[in-house]
Amino acid sequence: MCGIVGYIGSKSVVPVIIEGLRRLEYRGYDSAGIAVAGDPANPTKLELRRAPGKLANLEAVLAERPVHGTYGIGHTRWATHGRPTEENAHPHRDGTGTLVVVHNGIVENYLALKQELIARGHSFASQTDTEIIAHLIEDEINQHAAASEKTESANESEAVITTPATGLPLEEAVRRAVHRLSGAFAIGVLSANEPDKLVAARSGPPAVIGFGDGEYFLASDVPGILHHTRDIVFLQDGDIAVLTTQGVRFLDFENNPIERKPQRITWDPIQAEKNGYKHFMLKEINEQPRAIRDTTLGRVSLDTGEIFLPDLQLSKEQINATTNLTIAACGTSWHAGLAGKYMIERLARLPVDVDYASEYRYRDPIPSALGLLITQSGETADTIAAQAQMIAAGTPTLAICNVVGSAITRKAQGVITTNAGPEIGVASTKAFTAQLTALFTLAMYLGQQRGHLTPAMSLHYATELAKVPAKAEEILRTVDDQCVQLAKLFSAANDFLFLGRGIHFPIALEGALKLKEISYIHAEGYPAGEMKHGPNALIDENLPVVCIATQDPADPTSVLRYEKTLSNIQEVTARSGRVIAIATEGDNQITGLVEHTIHIPAAPDLLLPILETIPLQLLAYHISVRRGCDVDQPRNLAKSVTVE
Ligand code: AGP
Repeated sequence: MCGIVGYIGSKSVVPVIIEGLRRLEYRGYDSAGIAVAGDPANPTKLELRRAPGKLANLEAVLAERPVHGTYGIGHTRWATHGRPTEENAHPHRDGTGTLVVVHNGIVENYLALKQELIARGHSFASQTDTEIIAHLIEDEINQHAAASEKTESANESEAVITTPATGLPLEEAVRRAVHRLSGAFAIGVLSANEPDKLVAARSGPPAVIGFGDGEYFLASDVPGILHHTRDIVFLQDGDIAVLTTQGVRFLDFENNPIERKPQRITWDPIQAEKNGYKHFMLKEINEQPRAIRDTTLGRVSLDTGEIFLPDLQLSKEQINATTNLTIAACGTSWHAGLAGKYMIERLARLPVDVDYASEYRYRDPIPSALGLLITQSGETADTIAAQAQMIAAGTPTLAICNVVGSAITRKAQGVITTNAGPEIGVASTKAFTAQLTALFTLAMYLGQQRGHLTPAMSLHYATELAKVPAKAEEILRTVDDQCVQLAKLFSAANDFLFLGRGIHFPIALEGALKLKEISYIHAEGYPAGEMKHGPNALIDENLPVVCIATQDPADPTSVLRYEKTLSNIQEVTARSGRVIAIATEGDNQITGLVEHTIHIPAAPDLLLPILETIPLQLLAYHISVRRGCDVDQPRNLAKSVTVE
């Protein structure tokens, strides 16, 4: 996620902004920039400096071409649209070059707005969705000016001038512009034509306003300004803040003045980077509703159910000529691939093979028609090698990745980004559920292109997919305490078994991996139907067995699988096994059969994996904390395995 820092006051703005952006570096970024105004020597001059890469590159540009001023905005960009280059770095200017915007989030309808603005004579310098916002604000100012001229000429006889001397106030232009945006945004806006004013607006990603002594701050997160002030307002969705050297006023998107009282933040800077959570992993588990939602933005029509994956670069003909797909990935991403197999084969009827990347590269594979690499980092050595092997065999490759511009995305013919934002915890959480979300949209897209997914089914699945973020929020609200209690009961166990059937088997594997990698307890995932072929020998009163027994009551296949799973559970409890079941809300049948039941909201079978993963993540997290393990940096592990 991007970092934003804005300042207005009497200090020299550049050091304030650069230091603030440095304190937001943990959010991850690949370019940076700053816009500065209020140079006493030239108050209406607005200067821009930007650079790809780390802040040091921006500081080198500033050293070479210094800028001075008393108000400004800065940004560290996590690329989602357009590669990490200088021209794609924020801030972005409008057509006049006198108005700049920094943005965190995704403008879902930016392509349509871009066409509309181009038709009105605008031209664009970048590939970003953010630049659209600057031009939209300019467009509102222009439209107001044109309407005012008409009014003036109409009123000539009365000689009444209706246009304010300064034209449309910046905050009003911003307010009108944000009404035209769909998606998620937290923005900061400056105009050289309205000195000493900084406007912020929020709908989705966080934004905070800091209150100093005669100085005011904007930031995308508390750590960016905590060293200046602890008096903070957390903007709510639909808020606009107008910062001047006289103070801050708040209004909503409907132009109603609103009251926002600063609260005193007592966090220390490290706590602030985790947004008050004890660990990055817990913060990232709780960011999943946003990550899931952001991974669908701009890709799913809720009117028709149609899926748009413009970055896939695959024509309908190519898709229909594709006879099979091979997925290669590692670790958690491999688990996503296994679940994706069920989604793609069910919705698109396309045969899918799934391989560990480390195995694929050495088994002299038969080339497939299409390859898909799934990777959070985009830099995993084994996955890079598997992709190279596919390309060498003439197989075009796609990538599902969380890092724009990473090695695997650069070599892929088409990319689906998982817009989860930087994932700091070594144990992958939000990236995984974002991968499942991306795979589901891919499965729908392929199904639509291959004629297997009817419009009615597309609309049904799109509607159900749109409900997932809220269901994830509900799970985060309701199951955490239960997982804390289960951690107390089972954190001393030496072994765990995770069971699942069908698409839920990969989730059993993921639950086992989460537990073993952050609590160092031996855990394995197994197909529930395989228990009688060996693992039943493990069952006794010392072995906790986590069993995924969810179901979609509207899907006979799902209900049949659930009933078979119930039998497997009874095989375990008959041997004194201690079962923790993940079940669908309203299922009271299972609660009488097992020791503990964690209920989650119902959803279609192919979407349940996104939801049922969350309790498994929380269970692993709380067991790890009780065992005193290093949750965010577990022993022997690295976040990105860039070596074999
Ligand atoms: C997951 O919790 C692990 N950190 C690890 O298995 C990871 O998924 C694997 O190394 C693949 O990484 P990638 O997704 O960045 O390619």
